[in-house]
Amino acid sequence: MGVWGDRLLPRLLDSMGSAPEITRLRVAVCADLHGTVLELGFGSGLNVPYYPAAVTEVLAVEPSDQGWALSERRRAASLVPVRRSGLDGQRLTEPDDSVDCVLSTLTLCTIPDVARALAEVRRVLRPGGTLHVFEHGLAPDPGVETWQHRPEPLQKRVFGGCHLTRDVPWLLTEAGFRLDRRDAQYLDGPTLMRPWGYGHLIRASVPGDG
Ligand SMILES: C[S@@+](CC[C@H](N)C(=O)[O-])C[C@H]1O[C@@H](n2cnc3c(N)ncnc32)[C@H](O)[C@@H]1O
Repeated sequence: MGVWGDRLLPRLLDSMGSAPEITRLRVAVCADLHGTVLELGFGSGLNVPYYPAAVTEVLAVEPSDQGWALSERRRAASLVPVRRSGLDGQRLTEPDDSVDCVLSTLTLCTIPDVARALAEVRRVLRPGGTLHVFEHGLAPDPGVETWQHRPEPLQKRVFGGCHLTRDVPWLLTEAGFRLDRRDAQYLDGPTLMRPWGYGHLIRASVPGDG
């Protein structure tokens, strides 16, 4: 990907992802995690400080070596052991039915074949397991949606494949998940930033799975 994608973008994402409004939603999405947690798109480990005590281990899936290196300090300070278990959410290395929870924050926007990644999440979740999501995506207002489609090609080039128009609840439902808890709103900030700031907080499970 070159210097921008490999070296600079992970640092920029680390800085942008630490904003107070984003941190508030990280705390909320991590609150119910427990047992073995697989984190899709671990990045620089910005969720690590918010893993609750009920989490016994975290399996981090992250393609960026720079992101993983940036997470070193947070992992070292964590009471929860974190192991890098794979490089691609589209091809998880874990066996079927092996994790209690999957966490995804600001990552479903970026994984190229998101339907495939969600099928993998279903495969590795134990019966009764839960998917915990904080993501940005398609806004409900046509005026905002227009301004999500227009900059999306540039957004994808600059931000490592990040889409603005993914319909997160629809994608989860299509993948066979039931949305057990769901909240969506524009993040705080100027109206101009709304195309980048429609956030979803969702807890999902597979119906009839335990
Ligand atoms: C916007 S960052 C979010 C990072 C982190 N989840 C957070 O909340 O700060 C998107 C992350 O998705 C990762 N990513 C990109 N393609 C991926 C893939 N195929 N599987 C898993 N993660 C991927 C990127 O390397 C990056 O760390």
